[in-house]
Amino acid sequence: MMRLQSPLSATYVEASPDELEARISAAKATLGKRLFILGHHYQREEVMKWADARGDSFGLSRIAADQQEAEYIVFCGVHFMAESADILTGDHQKVILPDLNAGCSMADMADIESVEEAWEAIAEVTDIASVVPITYMNSSAALKAFVGRNGGAVCTSSNAKAILTWALEQHGDATKVLFFPDQHLGRNTAFQLGFDADSMQVWNPRLELGGLDEAAVKSSKFLLWKGHCSVHQRFSTTHIDAFRAEHPGGIVIAHPECSHEVCEMADHVGSTDFIIKAVTAAPEGSVIAVATEIHLVDRLARETEGKTIVSLDPLVCPCSTMFRIDAPHLCWVLEELVAGNVVNQVTVDADTATWAKVALERMLAIV
Ligand code: 13P
Ligand code: SF4
Repeated sequence: MMRLQSPLSATYVEASPDELEARISAAKATLGKRLFILGHHYQREEVMKWADARGDSFGLSRIAADQQEAEYIVFCGVHFMAESADILTGDHQKVILPDLNAGCSMADMADIESVEEAWEAIAEVTDIASVVPITYMNSSAALKAFVGRNGGAVCTSSNAKAILTWALEQHGDATKVLFFPDQHLGRNTAFQLGFDADSMQVWNPRLELGGLDEAAVKSSKFLLWKGHCSVHQRFSTTHIDAFRAEHPGGIVIAHPECSHEVCEMADHVGSTDFIIKAVTAAPEGSVIAVATEIHLVDRLARETEGKTIVSLDPLVCPCSTMFRIDAPHLCWVLEELVAGNVVNQVTVDADTATWAKVALERMLAIV
């Protein structure tokens, strides 16, 4: 999806880190309680240090929903997170994304047209009334609205098990789940619930009937959209073998966007918030390999005393879109706010927001 971010002027691009720090600090102080900055765990340090609250995507959506006071919510994360915050906050609040090009390549792997086409194709071969659409938080507001309209819900990596359990209860044994856009989170959660590989089929939106035959669609319990995160897909079982060979008592913690093979071999699997808690809970002296975005791994390595934290993949794997949010962009949006200009506001149109809110609130009510 194309989004336009105009280049910053020299006053931001050429400012030194110390100058940016002083300017962000001054703007933040001027805005006071009118401003609330949210920071996802994958943000760089130069940005994260200014966050009033940090979290995973579920935690940040909760905080945004509860944050009634601030007029401006500056979301240091990616576009789908800012959209969700706009849906969950009041009309008097404005959500700002410091760089509009901070999208999510996985979210872009499912668009509303392809999902609607898939829905129609599935309806031709099976009873669509018993199909529950579940979208991962990493999706556009249009997809959240689609699941809201069609009796489904949003899930995040921290509550996927509870949401899929809820989905499976909706139409008894006849229930099927269409899960998008991340096949890995869908598969890992279905396995966690005790289903086997035969109950899951990958839906390839580029192929007729998702690349499946009618019998496969009819017999499947889970139709998993062929989407993935390029950051998490890099981690492999070879990395785990190498880490365990070097550190026989080592602990592996993976994000559920990793492949099933990796999650099956890992000692712990969970959201970014869960990963932080699992590191905290590990015994003193542990050597821990973490399979997630490098900024979180590096922060854990820096801030955790008495334990050794490394990336499961020794080659750095940053999320290039999360990385777009930097000190110059944060400084720019804050200084514009001080000057009375709201730049980079993320808004969702009223009809989309109404239905997306249904899907998001269903999620918040279930967990
Ligand atoms: P969390 O919900 O675990 O923070 O994950 C968001 C994400 O984009 C992971 O790649
Ligand atoms: Fe999207 Fe992957 Fe980046 Fe998360 S890490 S925001 S899923 S591209």
